[in-house]
Amino acid sequence: MGEGISDYNRCIIDLRRHMWLAGVEVELRRLIWQIAVTGKYISAKIHESNRKLAGFRNIYGEEQLSLDRSADEILKIQLQFSGFVREYTSEESDSVIKIGQGDEKYFVTADPLDGSSLVDTNLSIGTIIGIHKESIFAEGRKTMVAAMYITYGPLITMVYTAGHGVHEFVLNREGEYVLSEENITLKERGSIYSLGGLRKDWTPEHLRYVEYLEDTGYKLRYSGGFVPDINQILIKKGGIFTYPALKKSPHGKLRLLFELQPVAFIAEQAGGLATDGKKDILSLKVEELNQRCPIYIGSRFEVEKAREFLAKG
Ligand code: F6P
Repeated sequence: MGEGISDYNRCIIDLRRHMWLAGVEVELRRLIWQIAVTGKYISAKIHESNRKLAGFRNIYGEEQLSLDRSADEILKIQLQFSGFVREYTSEESDSVIKIGQGDEKYFVTADPLDGSSLVDTNLSIGTIIGIHKESIFAEGRKTMVAAMYITYGPLITMVYTAGHGVHEFVLNREGEYVLSEENITLKERGSIYSLGGLRKDWTPEHLRYVEYLEDTGYKLRYSGGFVPDINQILIKKGGIFTYPALKKSPHGKLRLLFELQPVAFIAEQAGGLATDGKKDILSLKVEELNQRCPIYIGSRFEVEKAREFLAKG
């Protein structure tokens, strides 16, 4: 992608046109488009929410859905209408939901509103999507065909990959997703780090790795929202995000299927790496929906360095 697009076209390129020029298969690009549009509805829901109303009754006595459950409902309904999705599963449900007729090509996973509690403090939050063929209970590398995330912050942005590079779009005032950066590529080495978990709960080898980063002069950047934190690394073209194995929770916190696989697919497409400390995230087999796993994701140098430190443990 990229070579076929002249500078003139680049100025006005929107998501649909970009995917068409990039040769993304027709059903897949319609699906990605549908999900991007759904991001607008989720964003509207965030804007109309009165922050802390979740779980309370509205003035008509109706129960308010929490924002993440509302986002899940919106996604599910939109995907049902798409005609391309056989099964849908999300962090909000404890099962795989058959939403198609059974002959559709794609299986969609979602973290409908990651970090939704950050709305209270007006920090950015996001939606993470994985698109698979055949099954989700396999290694991501075998089943994933596309991944995307949407950030709801000062701007609404959408980052996608369909296996041909990573591209960012910004939602403009006219409601169009306009290309803002094409073929995002992580540098070999960055200068920021984003660390989940409490220091007192880290393993000695992880602590030594963090001390290495600190001694080397990395700057701390952590908002507590996976989407904005990883987006920062991607847009700044380098660095490391980690939510490690903790002494009391050896599998860490983040979920393999809903959070880690899609973002790992994006990071690899951008020339970076994503590992649980030993194995690539995309080589881990999904055994259950809520499987958690430690994560080191970002530029190659920092991820390789993490592997080195963890191997000494
Ligand atoms: O999984 C939810 C989540 O909010 C992620 O978005 C984020 O990276 C992580 O949890 C933050 O966890 P903690 O509050 O332990 O730093």
